[in-house]
Amino acid sequence: MDEKQQIATAVAAALPDLSLDEITDKIERPKDANNGDYAFPTFFLAKTLHKAPQMIAADLVKKIDQTGFEKVVVAGPYINFFLDKAQVGAGIIKAILAGPEGYGKKDLGHQANVVIDYSSPNIAKPMGMGHLRSTMIGEAVARILEKENYTLIRVDYLGDWGTQFGKLMAAYEMWGSEEEVKKDPINTLLKYYVRINTEADEHPEYTELGREWFAKLEHGDKEAWRLWHWFREISIERFQKVYDMLDVHFDSFHGEAFSAQKMNDPIQLLKDKHLLKSSRGAQIVDLDAYKLTPPLIIKSNGTTTYITRDLATALFRKRMYGHAKSLYVVGAEQENYYKQLKAVLKEMGFTWWNQLEHISFGLMNLNGKKMSTRKGNVVDLEDVLNDSIKLARQQIAEKNPTLKNADEVAKQVGVGAVIFHDLKNDRRNAVNFKLEDVVKFEGETGPYVQYARARAESILRKGGIRDFSNVDLTKIGDSAWDILSFLSQYSNAVERAAVNYDPSVVAKYALELSKKFNQYYAHNRILQDDDEQPARLALVQAVSHILKDALAMLDIKAPDEM
Ligand code: ARG
Repeated sequence: MDEKQQIATAVAAALPDLSLDEITDKIERPKDANNGDYAFPTFFLAKTLHKAPQMIAADLVKKIDQTGFEKVVVAGPYINFFLDKAQVGAGIIKAILAGPEGYGKKDLGHQANVVIDYSSPNIAKPMGMGHLRSTMIGEAVARILEKENYTLIRVDYLGDWGTQFGKLMAAYEMWGSEEEVKKDPINTLLKYYVRINTEADEHPEYTELGREWFAKLEHGDKEAWRLWHWFREISIERFQKVYDMLDVHFDSFHGEAFSAQKMNDPIQLLKDKHLLKSSRGAQIVDLDAYKLTPPLIIKSNGTTTYITRDLATALFRKRMYGHAKSLYVVGAEQENYYKQLKAVLKEMGFTWWNQLEHISFGLMNLNGKKMSTRKGNVVDLEDVLNDSIKLARQQIAEKNPTLKNADEVAKQVGVGAVIFHDLKNDRRNAVNFKLEDVVKFEGETGPYVQYARARAESILRKGGIRDFSNVDLTKIGDSAWDILSFLSQYSNAVERAAVNYDPSVVAKYALELSKKFNQYYAHNRILQDDDEQPARLALVQAVSHILKDALAMLDIKAPDEM
């Protein structure tokens, strides 16, 4: 229970006609600390109770149970609440120590199923920064929702179907070598693909060849199928390296190819509902009523499109998982597309169309420059992570040359730094990526938070107490109040992050808690051997727990030493 709830509960017992929410809404934080920690104004009751607010306040205060408060007093039309900081603070620490994983959760999900479609790179191509953003935002959103007791189904919807694979096969048949592919799978396949596209200008027959190969694939030709399967496998193997580095694990790799086999479902339904309209030989759905351009469902040559596959995917997911929500973590440039997808489902008569949500995000720029696959301005993700790890390793060597498992810690810090940087601002904003700014132990960075927690752990090692069950936590002292009151806000932060699918709320919380803890550390001699020392150490333990928990929600590790 946070403080506001505590006060609302006390007031509610004396005002049974009002709901807890109505009361909570009215509670204020006085600007002047002399007026207490919280205040309850009574003006709004004057009309219904036919009494002057001053009198209402005077009557009410007599009925309020004062336990848990230092005092509850009347000040004109207000009732001012002074928290018994020692008691409240002790309660907060106790609750955290009793179950750090449970602390901060409001159980919004009640185990309801949520499908989350994220990362979703395209096979035979390097995974771009956009996919890295999708992977990290998606994973953090998944973990935040898990904290709120949703059941997550993580899907990597691979881009593994489409005419481009016909071209790739044609190119491989002409110039490819198995050996070359095996050495550097994705870059080699990309090379073939780029070559056939460039040379197709002079050799129009290449385009035709590509079409033939794709037709073969669609009709189950053995060689086409073998190649497709192979390209897919070696691509996943490469992606898996990045996923392993990021500790991201999917429940399903059903991608576009899987949905391509299920295309009849949406097409039949669209026909039954007379939603398909002919337009220049192609079939579209009219979305004028939504002020959206009409999506192409079946092309003039009879082949289906990306959105048709996504419609089949949506139907399959609803049937398979019975989800309460279905999330798509994809860049902002596809906003219109997801509006179309939802609108078509709505037109098809599915009441659950609104369970689909586009978790949109901004671009990632590299040192201020836009990254684009087409211009070849792509950065290899593994390289980025490895560079970051290297930089973290150097910094650790300077700061803590005797650290034992330095390589392992460097991995946690380097990778954590990249993730934190991606998540710390509202996901809709563009992110500028500059390695030197990302892997810093000072400022608003992942390493800063990790370092604050490692400091807490180091204090605890020196303090020697790990079992706080017999410690008198009310001895915590006023200087801890700022941190304690902030800790009691944790559940509100987690809730906001979950409701808005916004990991930045958790990242900012972790930064703020680190700052508050560092201030506390600077102004208090935590380890000083006095009566209050055990309570102070308990606070340090609580902070360490929550920092670790917050980092874990962001998919960032918390090394005990660094
Ligand atoms: N493969 C797509 C891309 O790279 C993202 C897929 C997103 N998910 C979906 N169901 N459409 O842009």
